[in-house]
Amino acid sequence: MDRQAPDIVRAAYAELIVTDLQASRRFWVDLLGFVVTSESEDALYLRGYDELIHHNLILTAGAAPAAARLAFRVRTAADLDLAEAFFAALGTRTARVPAGITPGVGEAVRAEDPLGFTVEFFFDAEPAERLQQRYDLRRGAEPARLDHFNIVVSDVRAAYQHYRSLGFGLSETIEDAQTLYAAWMFRKQTVHDVAFTGGEGPRLHHLGFFAHESHQVLRICDILGSLQSESQIERGPGRHGVSNAFYVYLRDPDGHRVEIYTSDYFTGDPGHPVLRWSVRDPRRRDFWGHAVIPSWYTEATTVLDLEGHPRPLRAEEQTAEVTVGADGFTR
Ligand SMILES: [Fe+2]
Repeated sequence: MDRQAPDIVRAAYAELIVTDLQASRRFWVDLLGFVVTSESEDALYLRGYDELIHHNLILTAGAAPAAARLAFRVRTAADLDLAEAFFAALGTRTARVPAGITPGVGEAVRAEDPLGFTVEFFFDAEPAERLQQRYDLRRGAEPARLDHFNIVVSDVRAAYQHYRSLGFGLSETIEDAQTLYAAWMFRKQTVHDVAFTGGEGPRLHHLGFFAHESHQVLRICDILGSLQSESQIERGPGRHGVSNAFYVYLRDPDGHRVEIYTSDYFTGDPGHPVLRWSVRDPRRRDFWGHAVIPSWYTEATTVLDLEGHPRPLRAEEQTAEVTVGADGFTR
């Protein structure tokens, strides 16, 4: 019998461990344009200009770069009990976190999921001031909100099945007759809240933040170029095949990857059809056929367990997508 899944609303925030909080502040706040909701001696709580809850990103000072957790908001307080029971039934470790441990967030349930990630579920959140029309405050890429987590997993099909059991819809895939190389899955009515990249996992591939317009993607590239920080632009700007989004990938001072992402589409109709891309279609990762830089496939962020220890890596169980077909090679 299927376990009853918690009603997940959306990907809401992530916590990254950074080694130099001042350098991170310069990148995320001064250059990218995030809003500081609150701060302490060892942490920054940041949000986008559209965000009406306390934060989308926590940057916490630590000894080594890592991703501490990925947090989803649930629809009601009762969904916390469902989340705890759902993961306990999988035999994974869970923990109740009292309200106030994370500033701006109420009681939460954390779990080490079967894919190896520490995930959090919360309902209560402190409201934040509405800044959408404070154009006078905007800087950098003018990030609006967190859009998605992209995670590196050793078995993409297992990741797909796990998130399907949590009630996620499937919007797009990269596949061939034998192998699922990547998949994009959603709770909110967009292309995704979570996506899977095949590789040595568990690792965090990137955090995707939504901007409203493509010129905001271009502007952050111009700003980084002006400051001779062009090495922080890893891939793009470009148009994705998958998701149709206009994008750029940047690397923060610790190497954490962030995507500025705009113009994907509505997926909320019942029976929304899945768009399946051939792994041999050169347009899948970049609609204009531009090659993907190898670091984008091979480098990612270490993830931590419930106690803050790095999770061991599992080798990729499938053929690596980058060796197949496209990415600037021939069909
Ligand atoms: Fe993304």
